[in-house]
Parts: sequence; C-alpha cells; structure tokens
Amino acid sequence: MILIDGKSTSLQIQEEIKARVELRAGDGHKKPHLAAIIVGDNPASRAYVGHKIKACERVGFESTLVELSESVQEEQLLMEVEALNNDESIDGFIVQLPLPDHIDDQKVLEAVRPDKDVDGFHPVNAGNLSLGLPGFQPATPSGIIELLKRYEIETSGKHAVVIGRSAIVGTPMTLLLSRNANPGNCTVTLCHSRTQNLEEITRTADILIAAIGRPHFVTKSMIKPGAVIIDVGINRIPDPSRKSGSRLTGDVDFEGASEVAGSITPVPGGVGPMTIAMLLRNTLEATERPV
Ligand code: GUN
Repeated sequence: MILIDGKSTSLQIQEEIKARVELRAGDGHKKPHLAAIIVGDNPASRAYVGHKIKACERVGFESTLVELSESVQEEQLLMEVEALNNDESIDGFIVQLPLPDHIDDQKVLEAVRPDKDVDGFHPVNAGNLSLGLPGFQPATPSGIIELLKRYEIETSGKHAVVIGRSAIVGTPMTLLLSRNANPGNCTVTLCHSRTQNLEEITRTADILIAAIGRPHFVTKSMIKPGAVIIDVGINRIPDPSRKSGSRLTGDVDFEGASEVAGSITPVPGGVGPMTIAMLLRNTLEATERPV
C-alpha cells in the first residue's frame, strides 16, 4: 500500500513556486500578491486562511487578510470585493467559504473579477473548465490531479467514482478526470445523497474520491482491492485522548481502507496541503498571464 503524501508534495510544489518567484524578481517583477477575505470567527475557516497566509510567506508572496465581522452586511462585503477588484497591487484574491446565512454566496462569488478569481469559483472560470478552455481551476480538485500526476497513477480508461457533487470539489473533479488529458481520460461516475446501491458502484472504482463531509463514510467493504483512495474530507471529531478533546479525520475509514487499497491519501496531510499549493500556483499564474 502506497501512502500518497500530500504534505511533502505540497512543500515540493511550494519550493518550485518560490524558485519561480525569485527568478521573476531577478527580472524586475514584483512579488505575487494574494488577498483573502474572511467573514466571522469560524475556527476551521480561520485555520485554513491562516495556513494560506503562512504559505504565502514561505514562497515569497505578499499577502493581505481582510477580516470582517460575522454581522457584516452583504453590501459592505460586496464593496470590499470591489475594492480588491480595483486594487492594482492585488493579483488574486479569495473569499473564504462558508459565508454567514444572511449573505448570498453566489452573489459574492460573481462579484469577484474572473482574472483575479484564483479559487476558480466565478461562473466564467467554472464555465471555462466545463468547456475545456483555459482559466482558473478550483484548488482542491486540481490538487488531486497533481497528486495523481506526481505519483504516476494511471488514469486513462480507469473508472473513477466521485462521491459528493459540490461546486467546489465533486463537480469540477468529474470534469478534470474525464478530460482528454493526462491525468484524465477516466470513465467517471458522480455519486451523491440520492444515489442508489452506492456500495455496488464504489466497489467498481479504480479511483475513489470521497468528498462528502461525513467522517469515516467510506468503509473497507466499499473498496475494490488495489484501488486508489483520495480522501477530501476534513471532519473534526471528539477524541478524549487529545489535549484539545478532538482531532481531524477524513471521509474514509483510513485503517480499514488501508487493508485493501493500493494507495491512499491520509487526513491530515493528504489533499488539504495540496489545495494550498494549487491556490499559490493559481496566484502565480495570475501575475504571469492576464485572463
Ligand atoms: N472553503 C472550503 N474550501 C475552500 C476553498 O478552497 N476556497 C474558499 N474560498 N473557501 C473554501
């Protein structure tokens, strides 16, 4: 069984990005500049954004964090987005999700200028992805593609099963896996909450991608022996043995799955760090190519 190490792969990609930033600096280019807007005090969101800002420092990017209170009005948030759209010093920015219930996520995401939308969530970028045209791709699915590439996992003609149809992960994942590219050329099945006979389907997966947000949803009996298991879940569960009283775990029962899988991503240290590496890569691209 091969452990697909997203953490070390992410650090390696960050080294590559850092080298490109230094090379560009030698040619007189300014540092890439990523901004993030965070609304409220959701601890998980705060932690993710903190990791993103720290990674910017590691690769020599400028970063700006815009912190807004949980009670911010939608209009104010849209004004902050517009300010970043118009700020020439900012190459790309993200609005960390989820947003509070009183704010229309879609309206906010559509306000981001597509050529600064390094999360790839704007309909123009999502549309480009679905048509196979250039544009920013969402960081989590493109991080998974990068792992498949760097671990030289054969995808052509394989059956990939994606569980979860979110706009951020599941849906773009199916598009990337089915493209005529390498990695790609998979036959893809997208499963979701209404899927019948889920286990029957997952047992035929050569590549199984779990993006449901339910701890240990994928168990050993759902896995075809030798399959590649990609766990996108980041769930916090109680763990009295830890000082914090909790720990992070994935959507896959790692212990059971490891007994049958050919390769598997751990949580933490799998897909999560790759999301950060791909966000940095998109930001570097934003400085290098106007969309
Ligand atoms: N929330 C969970 N994942 C993401 C992500 O990739 N980008 C943003 N902006 N918010 C998220």
